[in-house]
Amino acid sequence: MNDTPILDAYQGDLLDLAAEPGCGVDDPAVRFRPDGWLLVRDGRIAEVRDADAPPDARWRRHDWRGHLLLPGFIDTHVHAPQLDVIASYGTELLDWLQRYTFPAEARWADPAHAQRSARRFVRELLAHGTTAAMVFPTVHRAGVDALFEAAAGHDMALIGGRVLMDRNCPDALRDDAAAAERDSVDLIERWHGHGRLRYALTPRFAATSSDAQLAMCGALLRAHAAHHGGLYLQTHLAENRAEVDWIRALHPDARSYLDVYARAGLVGPRSVFAHAIWLDAADRAQLAAAGSAVAFSPSSNLFLGSGLFDWASTAAAGVAISVASDVGGGTSLCQLRSAADAYKVLALQGQHLSAWRALYAITRGAARALRLEHDIGHFDPGAAADFVVWSWAADALQRHRGALARSLHERVFAWLTLADQRNLAAVHVAGRRIALDAPLPADAD
Ligand code: GUN
Ligand code: ZN
Repeated sequence: MNDTPILDAYQGDLLDLAAEPGCGVDDPAVRFRPDGWLLVRDGRIAEVRDADAPPDARWRRHDWRGHLLLPGFIDTHVHAPQLDVIASYGTELLDWLQRYTFPAEARWADPAHAQRSARRFVRELLAHGTTAAMVFPTVHRAGVDALFEAAAGHDMALIGGRVLMDRNCPDALRDDAAAAERDSVDLIERWHGHGRLRYALTPRFAATSSDAQLAMCGALLRAHAAHHGGLYLQTHLAENRAEVDWIRALHPDARSYLDVYARAGLVGPRSVFAHAIWLDAADRAQLAAAGSAVAFSPSSNLFLGSGLFDWASTAAAGVAISVASDVGGGTSLCQLRSAADAYKVLALQGQHLSAWRALYAITRGAARALRLEHDIGHFDPGAAADFVVWSWAADALQRHRGALARSLHERVFAWLTLADQRNLAAVHVAGRRIALDAPLPADAD
């Protein structure tokens, strides 16, 4: 056995957050080390040093001076099969599902198609600087395997699970109750805790899962409470007004949309609810008390015309907020674009999202929301070396604007707002650089 450690030292402008920042632009949680050293031992962060404390000759040096090194971004809500329908014209949520999304998801019934799509999806996540994600595949079991296999191939931290739908959906996607439960149990055994993979029970939303199916999810959550820290639960909540009206009509006795999930035992500390726009104060208090998280998906909320997420009220209630892409409702896998859209959604409500809060919501805060803060989202020693090297400027305008910045916050805010995947220089997962130029599955499929 060869137990010589692998020692890599990356030098560049290191930026991460030690804790949740406040609303100001000067915040003690911000850790910025120009030309600092990120020391990686066997795929984990060993130490972070200032520029004037280089490591000794045992460490292989990687010179990224003049670049920005950030923890890999975390996307807490994204749909793998929906790359086929990203940027589809002219509909709101419920029509969009019927017209574009369900047909694209039905194509995952072909395992070869699902495998190509899953590989393309994971590659695209990485190519946009996202190194960990909570993902919806489809109702097809082979597609869930394909997604987990694709993530495992890069040793990525990925949470996902078979989508569950047993009503109000096309026949081709509708569950048989016994098969849904059997598949979920088999997939949990196969994938939950396999390397960095975790399983999430994934009832699509309360309109497409019967009470019996939601109750089945609640029972599985309870049965696996001690299994690798417990299973996750991901679903959609109060995204669009017509959707909320529909849930009210389906559940006239429930206090609210959230209450439908709560009655089934689905509102817990590993539950992630996408959108959460049309809530009241009691819902927010209930989410906070349960330790549940919300995946704010600004690009999707704007594109589908769903509504404006009230960050201030949600945060004041004590709910953990992350920012997610929600592709294909969202129009970019780039979490910098999600952050920039989040800023605009808040601005429409007279609220302001600092660069530090935005960055937190796609790194350490997202990790905390997913109960993965021990592993990802920052440069604390012991964390996985999931990090991305970005150029400060990909074009002349970015360079011009950056040069005029008079403070670190101004520089990073302008960068977050203007940068995109053109700025991406290198992606590392568990200390290994990802070869982003390897061929992708054929485009036409
Ligand atoms: N609600 C139920 N399914 C979906 C979906 O696929 N995308 C979005 N944005 N909302 C949903
Ligand atoms: Zn979604």
